[in-house]
Amino acid sequence: MVRSCEQEIPAWVYVGTLLFFIHFHSVTVSGAALKQEAASDNAATVLNHSMSLVQRMETLLTMGNGSDVTLRVQTINTDEVKVIQAHSLVLTLQSDVFEELLLTRNSSTLVLRETPECAAVFDKFVRYLYCGDISVRLDQAISLHKLASKYHVWGLQQGLTQYMTQHLSSDSPTGHVVGWYNYALQIGDMTLRDSCLQYLSWNLSSVLQSGEWGSISEDLLLSLLQRSDLILQSELELYEALEGWINQNQPVSTTVETALRAVRYGMIPPQHLFRLQKQSALMQKYYETIRDLLYLAFQFHSASPIQLAKYFDVNCSIFTPRNYLSSSWGSPWVINSPTRDDRSFSFQTQLGPSGHDSSKRVTWNALFSPRWLPLSARSTYTELGAMQPTRTDGGRPRIIVTPATSSPDFAGVSFQKTVIVMARQQGKVVVRHVYNFHQSTEEAGDFLMDADLQRRASEYLIDSSLYLHIVVKPLYHTLLVARK
Ligand SMILES: *[C@@H]1O[C@H](CO)[C@@H](O)[C@H](O)[C@H]1NC(C)=O
Ligand SMILES: *[C@@H]1O[C@H](CO)[C@@H](O)[C@H](O)[C@H]1NC(C)=O
Ligand SMILES: *[C@@H]1O[C@H](CO)[C@@H](O)[C@H](O)[C@H]1NC(C)=O
Ligand SMILES: *[C@@H]1O[C@H](CO)[C@@H](O)[C@H](O)[C@H]1NC(C)=O
Ligand SMILES: *[C@@H]1O[C@H](CO)[C@@H](O)[C@H](O)[C@H]1NC(C)=O
Repeated sequence: MVRSCEQEIPAWVYVGTLLFFIHFHSVTVSGAALKQEAASDNAATVLNHSMSLVQRMETLLTMGNGSDVTLRVQTINTDEVKVIQAHSLVLTLQSDVFEELLLTRNSSTLVLRETPECAAVFDKFVRYLYCGDISVRLDQAISLHKLASKYHVWGLQQGLTQYMTQHLSSDSPTGHVVGWYNYALQIGDMTLRDSCLQYLSWNLSSVLQSGEWGSISEDLLLSLLQRSDLILQSELELYEALEGWINQNQPVSTTVETALRAVRYGMIPPQHLFRLQKQSALMQKYYETIRDLLYLAFQFHSASPIQLAKYFDVNCSIFTPRNYLSSSWGSPWVINSPTRDDRSFSFQTQLGPSGHDSSKRVTWNALFSPRWLPLSARSTYTELGAMQPTRTDGGRPRIIVTPATSSPDFAGVSFQKTVIVMARQQGKVVVRHVYNFHQSTEEAGDFLMDADLQRRASEYLIDSSLYLHIVVKPLYHTLLVARK
């Protein structure tokens, strides 16, 4: 029998000597019937006893009255057994796997074999089938997700995926995101995997300092090292954390080599590179592996990047910044009551990470407009002969970042701006969004699109303020390639 997976589709169940399931697949028919009913129900009052029905279902499970099947849950590789008196009708309502098992069973007992983690939460899982609610702890999410997947309880499975994406920043003594990432990878849930990866990337400094860092897999380490969107203090911080990971995990040398070659040495100031060459045991051991990269980095530091770009390819990752939070790269910006009016703000960065440029400062002016109207929208107002509105509901938030003065040093460099937007989640300040642009957030298209800053309770506001961090990243154009 072909079964539909959606538990929302109403199922009328007839119980005879065998269980027959008759499904009304035609939702339109029952939908129309419901509408009619709703119309005549307008004048009626709802007596709502669904809570006590749920309590009765729970009692049914705990007392086992009228049970027609005994579940024997065996923990694999042990002789532990958990016995649950259940009702086949309830089990099959949400699970076609239980339906199949119950149709093919020989006796009134169903033997189920589960791993210790899954056996530990099996009661909770069955209770969900009876009551439709479940309380979940961080350390139970994977086991419950496994059970929901094994028994095809899709609603629960989806709910757990959602729970995990929403609880990445929750406190846990040993960390849980890395475990969730591995699980998502194993079951091929790309959405969950990407959420975990994004969380780890956007919150890398905390992860590097946590006990969880040492436990990340080689695969995860290497995929993090490839990313340009990592948010962390500095590239030096990443190098030092990598050294710690390698000391702890002692991977094969090809892994060490791949990892070391993913470090962006051009982004580490030369004085730190000197120190690492003398003091980092890892760098000394693998010096030959990265000798060419270090040489390139020192060349980068010794002249203006534009000089370098005439002869070498500077459009490669060693010269591409990530999102560094240290003060030479940008500045935090807290905007109180952001909907009130336009705000401006000035900050300084180094001209570039090259040793040649790092002592030159650039002053940036940032302008935040809470309700900025695109030109096209403004022209409609003037066409209609109305005054140009200063405040309207149609406008959208915008930030523009421009240099206070121009300089010949800017030739051949494009400064990419990144605005990091923080929000509070489970009582913690976490990165909520990252927007990249060159001059104006208009380029990003969706800047603070769903932030709804007018609402005091907006998820994007922390104590009625908008918490931003602006990073300025010089990107160099390869003159060599351009000339070809
Ligand atoms: C009945 O009450 C429950 C819980 O109090 C509520 O979730 C549900 O929406 C109510 N149903 C109706 C039809 O009002
Ligand atoms: C369940 O069974 C017990 C005896 O086994 C009985 O005392 C109790 O009233 C029953 N409960 C219900 C809700 O039928
Ligand atoms: C049911 O019994 C048959 C024959 O006794 C046996 O071959 C089969 O494995 C049993 N099935 C289950 C699910 O125990
Ligand atoms: C990073 O994660 C830690 C631990 O979960 C949390 O306390 C912190 O607020 C997070 N920070 C950001 C910027 O996401
Ligand atoms: C740099 O290289 C990337 C891919 O390697 C390419 O997409 C990009 O257009 C290049 N940029 C410049 C300015 O050459």
